Amino acid sequence: MACAVMGLQEMIETSAERAGQLQAVPDAFIRPPHDRPPSLVQEQQLPVIDISGLHDPHLRPLVLQHIAHACAHWGFFQVVNHGVKDEVIQEMRAACWRFFNQPASERNKFKGQENELPVGYATSFNPAVEIARDWKDVLYVRDVPGMCSNGFDLLPEICREAFQQYRSGVDELAKLLFESIFEGLGVSIASIKEKVPPAARLVMGVNFYPPCPDPSLTYGISPHSDVGYVTVLLQDEVPGLQIKKGENWYLVKPLPNAFVINLADQIEILSNGKYKSIEHRAVTNTDKPRMSIACFYGPLNSAIIAPLPDFTSENEPGRYNAVKYGDYVRNFYSKGLLPDRATLNLAR
Ligand code: OGA
Ligand code: NI
Repeated sequence: MACAVMGLQEMIETSAERAGQLQAVPDAFIRPPHDRPPSLVQEQQLPVIDISGLHDPHLRPLVLQHIAHACAHWGFFQVVNHGVKDEVIQEMRAACWRFFNQPASERNKFKGQENELPVGYATSFNPAVEIARDWKDVLYVRDVPGMCSNGFDLLPEICREAFQQYRSGVDELAKLLFESIFEGLGVSIASIKEKVPPAARLVMGVNFYPPCPDPSLTYGISPHSDVGYVTVLLQDEVPGLQIKKGENWYLVKPLPNAFVINLADQIEILSNGKYKSIEHRAVTNTDKPRMSIACFYGPLNSAIIAPLPDFTSENEPGRYNAVKYGDYVRNFYSKGLLPDRATLNLAR
């Protein structure tokens, strides 16, 4: 089905109010009064982990400990010395801007909101069902064997190669982290290979948040938890990402060229709740556009996800039901983004 909703960027570009600017937030984006961004949240540096030691057998145990501690206490951390080259990151950022700086007619060649498109240029998350739209457009690129063709091969030439290079670098990082997260929980690499469905799905979302005339009325991305295994996020220098720890929300201060790593729903299920999938959101600002690049790694649609036997026993029964990941994803896309980690209800 073609996407009938006009993208936010296009709406701003074609705005008649003032050349290329909106003076007020259009009604479609205004959230109900009880559900708007609070004006203040705490600022705290997330754990920053130098992961170069993961390649050194003597240092690896200590780095695994740091990762395990960050996963248990925050579910979110930043990594540095991660092995993805600076040039690759800079070229990727530039390529994303090249895509979004094209005329709407070029961007709209990829227009599409659906969850199974190899490439989709979309707005908000699911405008068909949302009470209020999020203040963002997004370019999705999918490589999900068995579901669609590899979207990275179908990108326009102005950004294809940079996306492919970036994806190879981040794939390696994600594999390293995926193993480290389980190893930190005491699951051997051999056991991971045997029991955990591989992280063979990559969905990349390049989020573009234009400046917003009134950030108190709308979110850039509304509160949600990610549904896969882990997300590898590259922020730019403009703050916006906030995460929930206990009852408090914290701003994740951008750290140049560090990746923000977060645990998503399937890690919570596999670990039988030892690690939690963390709720997060992004706010907008009045001055500067913000871009973030999220790589969502998860299992294939056919994978059945349930607590690993390593984390269940007679005294500790499994706290989540087995769910086929394809059903999990379909449920996620059929709704708007939901707060309180509601996607996990499917496994409860
Ligand atoms: C997401 C997300 C946060 C950000 O894309 O799922 O949470 O800072 N993005 O853009
Ligand atoms: Ni997210």
